[in-house]
Amino acid sequence: MIMAIERIIDTSLHDEDDDEEIIEVTLRPKDFSQYVGQDRLKKNLKLAIAAAKKRGDPIDHILLYGPPGLGKTTMANVIANEMGKNIRVTAGPAIERAGDLASILTNLNDGDILFIDEIHRLGRTVEEVLYSAMEDFKLDIMIGKGPAARSVRLDLPKFTVIGATTRTGSLSAPLRDRFGLMHRLEFYTPDEIAQIITRASTILDSKIDQAAAKMLSTRARLTPRIANRLLKRVRDYADVNGDGIIDVQTTTSALALLEIDELGLDPGDRNLLISIIDNYGSNPVGLNTIAALTGDEATTIEDFYEPYLMQIGFIERTPRGRRVTAKGHQHVGRTSDDKQQKLV
Ligand SMILES: Nc1ncnc2c1ncn2[C@@H]1O[C@H](COP(=O)(O)OP(=O)(O)OP(=O)(O)O)[C@@H](O)[C@H]1O
Ligand SMILES: [Mg+2]
Repeated sequence: MIMAIERIIDTSLHDEDDDEEIIEVTLRPKDFSQYVGQDRLKKNLKLAIAAAKKRGDPIDHILLYGPPGLGKTTMANVIANEMGKNIRVTAGPAIERAGDLASILTNLNDGDILFIDEIHRLGRTVEEVLYSAMEDFKLDIMIGKGPAARSVRLDLPKFTVIGATTRTGSLSAPLRDRFGLMHRLEFYTPDEIAQIITRASTILDSKIDQAAAKMLSTRARLTPRIANRLLKRVRDYADVNGDGIIDVQTTTSALALLEIDELGLDPGDRNLLISIIDNYGSNPVGLNTIAALTGDEATTIEDFYEPYLMQIGFIERTPRGRRVTAKGHQHVGRTSDDKQQKLV
């Protein structure tokens, strides 16, 4: 979908955008003190890290899950920094064969952290090798072929896996069970997003006043990645159309240009809501039907649009599918059929 690539509120990292990647890395918090919000997660991790350090052991395997852009990769790096260990970064789709995994694992050192992004996309055989390695730090590999083939058991260093996923449902139960800590990242509060924006603007050396930061904080889908991206766009706007200072006026004009409304929805979100309402009213509708209506991939809807629309109470999941709430109707200027809503 062209839209998915161009959307500013798209929570995915645009691979083709080097500039964006550089900014993302520059803005990435390095330790707990810089990492805004997610207090419960930080509390649990601080305890686990302190305990591991005291015992001289690596920390337990950790699974971080939640919508894109909320700080999973960032947190994995923070954990490695706080532990004072190396982090090796890979991703589910990058590990195609068990042999790929074996070479990664045998190259780790004691205490190293192996970050596996999109861990739900590991193949079944790789997954099996991984969870037995996570369990007892041993690797069973086959050497040779045919009748001469034999299985060898290798000792692995004591490593920690940090897995990140947008969907825990796609992980196999045995893999999930190997994680001692499983934690869902939550959407941030507008105040936390405002702090992230202020911090980012200091690092990027751009001037934003408090009122503008507050305004942006309500438009960023409660998501740090989008907050940083909006800041960058608004900064560009302020540089070109003004004196470079980001105030409420430049912010308002820049957001209008980007067609981002007061709740952070863009035309794609509004189109999704309107398509469902105009075809199904307040009735529940299946994910694939929604995908067919908007022309997006079902996974795009599930990972990118839906979590925030559910968070703000515009979409609801029912056993029979997703439905747009009365609040969602109202936002796009449609009236909802209350009678039908009561039936659900
Ligand atoms: N708690 C935070 N405090 C400050 N900035 C943050 C925080 N979390 C994330 N960010 C910023 O948002 C950007 C995106 O975060 P990150 O890459 O960690 O998200 P993610 O959850 O890994 O997303 P994805 O699922 O797409 O991989 C980071 O570069 C960082 O600058
Ligand atoms: Mg990530």
